[in-house]
Amino acid sequence: MSNIERTLSIIKPDAVQRNLQDQIKQEFKNKGFEIIEEKKIHISKEEAEKFYKVHETKPFYNDLCKYLSSGPIIVLSLQRENAVMENRKLMGATNPIDAKEGTLRKKYGISIDKNSVHGSDSIDNAKIELDFFFNR
Ligand code: CMP
Repeated sequence: MSNIERTLSIIKPDAVQRNLQDQIKQEFKNKGFEIIEEKKIHISKEEAEKFYKVHETKPFYNDLCKYLSSGPIIVLSLQRENAVMENRKLMGATNPIDAKEGTLRKKYGISIDKNSVHGSDSIDNAKIELDFFFNR
């Protein structure tokens, strides 16, 4: 049974700064993701605070929002079968130290903050996050 989904990926400032976006986009394509939409943007701290609102009570919230707004990012709408879960597998663990060999965060991540990519963590959040960047 086919289960085509869309999910949001963000190529974060640390990866864009190192010009890794084409390499990371190729990794998505190699894993069968179709890039439906993409754009390069530079968001404000206030927009980052809205995007990461689920984390507002966390001790790292302020630094996280400062970081996401610190430079250009690439936002992508990715489509494939089981896109949400498959993207999470491809990204690997949040902290690059814990990420498995071959995952994006293992290959490109620098630290838990500068972990190169974000991906939606559920189908519901994927809809909300795609709306946030592409339907505003
Ligand atoms: P991301 O998938 O974008 O979602 C929230 C981000 O917060 C996460 O990736 C990390 O880059 C960042 N972060 C910083 N500190 C922590 C932490 N202690 N636990 C989880 N995420 C953290």
